[in-house]
Formats: sequence, C-alpha cells, structure tokens
Amino acid sequence: MKTYTYENSTALFKRAVKVIPCGVYGHFSPAPYVPVDAYPFFSDRARGARFWDVDGNEFIDYMCAYGPMVLGYKHPEVDAAFLKQHVESDANSVASPRMVELAELLVDMIPTADWAFFARNGADVTNMAVMVARSATGRKKIIAIKGGYHGTTPWMQAPGHHGILEEDLQHVIRIPWNDIKALETVIAEHGPDIAGFIATPYHHPVFADNELPADGYWQKVVELLHKNGSLVIVDDVRTGFRLHLGGSCERYGFKPDLIAFSKAIANGYALSALVGVESLRVDAAKVFHTGSFWFCAGSFAAAMACLKELQRLDGANLMQALGKRLTEGIVSLAANHGYTMKVSGELSMPYMRITDDGNVMLQQAWCSECTKRGAFFTSHHNWFLSTAHTEEDIKHTLDICDEAFKALKNSDGAQP
Ligand SMILES: Cc1ncc(COP(=O)(O)O)c(C=O)c1O
Repeated sequence: MKTYTYENSTALFKRAVKVIPCGVYGHFSPAPYVPVDAYPFFSDRARGARFWDVDGNEFIDYMCAYGPMVLGYKHPEVDAAFLKQHVESDANSVASPRMVELAELLVDMIPTADWAFFARNGADVTNMAVMVARSATGRKKIIAIKGGYHGTTPWMQAPGHHGILEEDLQHVIRIPWNDIKALETVIAEHGPDIAGFIATPYHHPVFADNELPADGYWQKVVELLHKNGSLVIVDDVRTGFRLHLGGSCERYGFKPDLIAFSKAIANGYALSALVGVESLRVDAAKVFHTGSFWFCAGSFAAAMACLKELQRLDGANLMQALGKRLTEGIVSLAANHGYTMKVSGELSMPYMRITDDGNVMLQQAWCSECTKRGAFFTSHHNWFLSTAHTEEDIKHTLDICDEAFKALKNSDGAQP
C-alpha cells in the first residue's frame, strides 16, 4: 500500500506561517496535535465521506471537519437548499422567514425546546446560555467539568491560557465528571451564588479516554441544581444530532433547561442554536447577544434540509452502527497484532487509544500510519462517523488499519 507525501501542503504551510500567526490554528494546526510530516494541512476538494489534499491524496475522513460534516461533504439536498436561499437572499437588513421555520422545526423535534435562538459558532450559544442562566437567577457562579470545553470565550478557557485574566475565571468552579459528591460539596459551599451547571452530555476531553454518564448521574445533577434554584445547561455542540435527534439528553433520559447546538446542525454551513424551556423565554429575550452574520438565511435553509435528512435516515442510529463496525474491527485487528486498543465514548464519535505505552504516543504513531495510507484519524480527539460512510469505506479503512499496525510493529520502539 502506497504511503502519501505532502509536498504542496508543506509549501503552503511555509507560506502560511509568514502571513498567519501559527500558520494554521486550532485543531487544524500541527502543533501540538499531529506529527507535521504525516498529515496534510490543506485541501480544496471534498465529497461524501472523502476529501483530497492539495497533493491529490485521497482520504476517508473520520474527523468530519471536527463535527460539522454529518451527511457527507457537498450533500446535494443541503447544498441545493442553501443555494436556493442564497440566490434569493442571504445577508439582509431584516430577518428571514427561514429563521422562523427553523425555530418551529427545532421546537417540534426537541422535547426540551420551547423556543430557539440562532448564532454562528458553538461558543456564541454556550456563552449565551451562561448569560441567560445568570440573568434568570441573578447569580454569578457557573459549575463546569474539569477538562470540559465550551469554546474560546475567556470564562470557558483553562487557567494559564494566554490572554486570560484570573478574574475571567473567578466565577467558574470546575469539578470532576461523574462526581456527585463534588457537586454536593460545591452546592453546600456556594449554593446561593450558583447560576447554573454546564457540561457536555458525556465527557469527551482531548488526549484522554472519553467517559459516559454513570447511571443516574444526569438525573441527580438536575435534581440537585433545581433544588438549589440553579439551571442545567447541556453543551450539545459536538454531540448534537449524532446521539439523538431530540438532543443528546433524550438518549440519557433527562431534561435540562438549555441546550447549545452547532457543528452538525447544518452539515457544514455556519450555524448554532440555543434552545430552552418556557420559563427562560423572557430572560433569553432580555440578554443582549447578536452578531453581524447571525441572520444569514442560507444556513437556516441548509439546517432544515440537514435535519430532515437526518430524520429520514435515522442518522444517529446509522452512525452508531457504523461506529460499532469500525471500532470492533480495529479492536480485533489490534489484538491480532498484539496491541490493546481501548474504545471510549459513544460509537458515532469514538475515542480510541492503544493502551500498551500508557500514554498517547503509540496511538499517535499508529494514526499517522493510517493517515499516510488514506484513513484520516487523529490521536488527541474523538473521531466522527457520518451517514456518508459506507460498509465499503469501513472495509477499506480496516485494510489500511491492518497495514498501519504492521508498519507500527516494524518501526523502532513500537513493540507492544
Ligand atoms: C463541546 C463543544 N462546545 C463548544 C465548542 C465551541 O464551538 P465553536 O468552535 O464553534 O465556537 C466546541 C468546539 O469544538 C465543542 O466541541
């Protein structure tokens, strides 16, 4: 099996660092996420479950644009809905009827939603959720999970990050995931000051195994927070529509007060949504939050087409089934080669790690070998399935994985 090289990508990266700080930033940046010689950094074509880099290398994509691609790149119905709207009107001085129609669809689909509010990025709506919680309760403190990510707004960043003030984090209390005792302690100490609790439906940090909620965890969280007069916010930005079309809380059987969505909502068109319960409608209206591009109508039309297609395909269950097939295949191949591969998180967006070296280096080396053969995996972050991945793709991916295990074994110091 041929391994890829990245001459054009490397040349572009050299140009990029001259004019863009860091060259390519965030998860798309090489450092500290992926070895620079094993990955492409630029692509100008994508279709279905595949993209092609600027050197013409073809990849089956298991990062799915880090979540937004859920039906496959360039999905015909979603793109047609976007284009039709874009040609009629997109940015405009007044709101589009599509905004109302999409809000109606979300209120219909999502049991927690009595209203919906729209923005562009995930952080817009996790931030809005916290502002609504503070406005509704008149309290300052937010409980969040250690290692949880909700975007780059200063209060959401980890201590020690550049450009962040101590004061930004003053009213955020971090506790471990699945730890009801820690939650009870914080409520006992700060009860009258606690506006709300924010967490993802299950814990999906980077560089670490993902953790599902323990039995009864969310139900107890809701009970404790509500008893304290505080609100429960679910950050469904990454998980939204890959676990359950009614919001991931439906999969785990609880009812939060606010849910933040983005990423998969419009199959790659820029959109986010905050939905909430009736009692928060007035506070959602009072909080001042808006943006120059938040009314662009093309994304609303794309989201309606995307969500209807996910409903038609039973997308969440389809992606879980594909993830099961992929992860079971990899675990079994790993065992054949003498490695132990651990799967964590939900199967529609699994996190995988070779455990034999006790850290993520072996996994990073193996993901690099897969990527150089056309299965685009990263080692620090969960992967994503989409409804565009096929049984054939998975079969081909498993062949690549097999070759990658052989290459890993042949490389220095990589014996299990
Ligand atoms: C769970 C979660 N919340 C919030 C965000 C922030 O979303 P955005 O990058 O669109 O602002 C992300 C982005 O990766 C995320 O994974």
